Amino acid sequence: MKFFADTADIDEIRDLAATGLLDGVTTNPSLVAKAGRDFFDVLKDICAAVEGPVSAEVTATDYDAMVQEGRRLADFADNIAVKVPLTWDGLKACKTLRQAGAMVNVTLCFSATQALFAAKAGATFVSPFVGRLDDISEDGMQLIRDIRLIYDNYPALETEILVASIRHPMHVVEAARIGADVCTVPPAILRKLADHPLTDKGLKAFLADWQGTGQSILDKP
Ligand code: G3P
Repeated sequence: MKFFADTADIDEIRDLAATGLLDGVTTNPSLVAKAGRDFFDVLKDICAAVEGPVSAEVTATDYDAMVQEGRRLADFADNIAVKVPLTWDGLKACKTLRQAGAMVNVTLCFSATQALFAAKAGATFVSPFVGRLDDISEDGMQLIRDIRLIYDNYPALETEILVASIRHPMHVVEAARIGADVCTVPPAILRKLADHPLTDKGLKAFLADWQGTGQSILDKP
């Protein structure tokens, strides 16, 4: 499974990219607003920091303007994935932008039928928002199970399932169990994925015992 960072904070992205574990980045207009910087300055920095896909979202809502904005974004860097909302115009724009050779991430997906249409429109990625479904007492991860099943029924559909709106590590574990292709994860949660209190406790005990031996690995010839 691939890991994308769900942020437009370049410091966080650089730090995470240094681990070699980051496969891409997703942004959205809210995350760009939070970063408080010029959109294209942010995109330039992010696209230079990671090799993998960097999702950049159009803000137009009608087909023509979405395609125009999408082309502009796609031309900006080779690793841009144009993000379009899952609306009729968004699906049409997806088809057009894909035919023009751009990567497209169809976002704000909340149902299996929407995901099926995104795949039919040739989306590179579809972004189901699991946390926002959980927020309204629906089962976000059940949507991921449904989309996986449906896509696997039709091998000609090549769209990758990009699990978004991840709120805690168990969303990631479950996404991996289901076989989702990508999880886009806020940096604070990404860092939690490597933590375990028993790792810290075990390491502390090992180091205390090692210190008792008085030895040093680097002292040996
Ligand atoms: O990638 C979409 C994601 O950022 C939405 O997350 O937490 O705002 O629902 P959230």
